[in-house]
Amino acid sequence: MKIAKVTVIVDSRYGSTLALAKAIADGAQAEGAHVRLRRVAIQEPEFSVDTKRADFIAAQQEYRELPKACADDLVWADGIIWGSPTRYGLMSTPLRSFIDEIAPLWREGALIGKVGAVFTSTGGMHSGNEMTLLSLMLPFLQHGMILCGVPHSEPALIQTRKGGSPYGASAVTGFDGSLGVDEIELTIASTLGARVARLARQVEAEPASVELAAALAQ
Ligand SMILES: Cc1cc2nc3c(=O)[nH]c(=O)nc-3n(C[C@H](O)[C@H](O)[C@H](O)COP(=O)(O)O)c2cc1C
Repeated sequence: MKIAKVTVIVDSRYGSTLALAKAIADGAQAEGAHVRLRRVAIQEPEFSVDTKRADFIAAQQEYRELPKACADDLVWADGIIWGSPTRYGLMSTPLRSFIDEIAPLWREGALIGKVGAVFTSTGGMHSGNEMTLLSLMLPFLQHGMILCGVPHSEPALIQTRKGGSPYGASAVTGFDGSLGVDEIELTIASTLGARVARLARQVEAEPASVELAAALAQ
């Protein structure tokens, strides 16, 4: 049977989105997938966060050791899962910058037919968690990818009192981060990774030049 290749791309400052990314990667690996866990570029100075917080310092030691994502990580993969902390109800700027950088892949149609899924972490319960998940999906559709969520056959989706939704993996950490990421949120994240790996085994990418299509349409 085909071995799925899954790339997980994460932005994280205080470590909660990183914790979800690692659970997603573990879930995909448990399904036999080859997994690349990657970070996005670090934008300095870190003016939007409290760099003196202990969780920031601990998370950044781990985060900065991850390899930086590049276009090849997406071309290589059958399944792509990306996520960031929520910023004003949207994805973070560093992840958005990475998505802008991969415009050549859109022109080549290089991601058409691959499987995509998303994750995020928010401070609040009702301040952008699901909206960020939905908006993280839009670039995948622009790239012609197939979206994957989490079905309610996963019991943790019914048990959760914080993050995790049919739209993707998520955490609700509290506005000072004190709620952290709980086991139920990690279970949902792992289920998402496993599901992407299973689906990615079954699909064939359909690379097709968007530029050529535009020329033919003239
Ligand atoms: C500039 C900024 C904007 C934020 N905007 C939101 C927001 O719109 N909604 C929300 O619930 N949390 C918001 N937060 C909180 C983060 O999303 C939350 O702390 C998240 O869990 C951090 O993820 P991380 O631990 O991976 O860095 C914001 C934080 C910062 C620094």
